[in-house]
Amino acid sequence: MASNPHALISGGSSGIGLALAHRLAAKGYALTLLARDPARLSEARSALAKTGATVRVTPTDVRDEAAVGDAVAAAIAEHGAPDLLVASAGIVIPGVFKQLPAAAFHDTMTTNYDGTLNLVRAALPAMLARRAGRIVLVSSGAGLIGLYGYTAYAPTKFAVRGLAEALRGELKPEGIAVSIVYPPDTDTPQLREEVQIRPAITSKIAGGARVHSAEEVADAILKGVESGRFTIAPGWEMGLLNRLHSLLGPLLHRFSFDPVIAKMHGRDGGGTAPG
Ligand SMILES: NC(=O)c1ccc[n+]([C@@H]2O[C@H](COP(=O)([O-])OP(=O)(O)OC[C@H]3O[C@@H](n4cnc5c(N)ncnc54)[C@H](OP(=O)(O)O)[C@@H]3O)[C@@H](O)[C@H]2O)c1
Repeated sequence: MASNPHALISGGSSGIGLALAHRLAAKGYALTLLARDPARLSEARSALAKTGATVRVTPTDVRDEAAVGDAVAAAIAEHGAPDLLVASAGIVIPGVFKQLPAAAFHDTMTTNYDGTLNLVRAALPAMLARRAGRIVLVSSGAGLIGLYGYTAYAPTKFAVRGLAEALRGELKPEGIAVSIVYPPDTDTPQLREEVQIRPAITSKIAGGARVHSAEEVADAILKGVESGRFTIAPGWEMGLLNRLHSLLGPLLHRFSFDPVIAKMHGRDGGGTAPG
């Protein structure tokens, strides 16, 4: 069995997960990447292998509990229990509640929440046996505050946050650390696709904040992991929202978002036009 530390990343073929994989490869981690699309996975593996990293990729749908169990067991057999387990696989389906099909809510919850749960449940027994390692769950700013256009997405990220907070207390005495990440808008394929279809009101509300690069977010995650932080909130906006969301949320809704919604609602048929 290899002696390098092992990082197992769901959603490691793209965006934030892939940027983090590059950072961890540079630190000498052996990597396991899970995602669905085999072509994107092998592209990621080729790029990472150029840095000399050992990379295992397994096409896996995180919604499939048995498939996640098999992929994680095989990765553990090769590289040992993960020192770092990162749940970054996720999707967003923006839209106005009354217009979203039931499948949007179901697909988003099964991917973002059940997928995270499946990964943690599959890897935890081996981590517990070693009494070591850190679990990093990727939520979102939408896990701190529910925004217009995110009725399918925000609840999944609130759920991930709840899981992280409850898990932290249970796993600390067992020697396993937990971190929760609240990325801001980050320039990844997910965001690039989302801005094409999200309601104009959502874009107006979210548009004021700076879009971070995936590398910046990965750096913040690595820094948070290395300094043993539970909460990782990249950028000052997320930092502020993380600390003050109970106070800021109602004020933002009332004085910033509601006026935008009042002004724009109806102009584009309920806010469905891209913007
Ligand atoms: N970008 C942002 O602005 C932003 C902001 C806040 C939070 N986040 C969160 O950050 C995480 C990473 O997002 P990103 O922006 O880096 O997105 P991305 O570039 O689209 O990457 C998403 C990754 O998840 C994988 N994935 C999606 N569905 C999956 C499934 N059912 N099974 C296995 N893998 C699956 C994708 O691969 P396949 O499609 O091949 O499966 C891909 O590797 C997500 O949880 C997202 O919600 C992103």
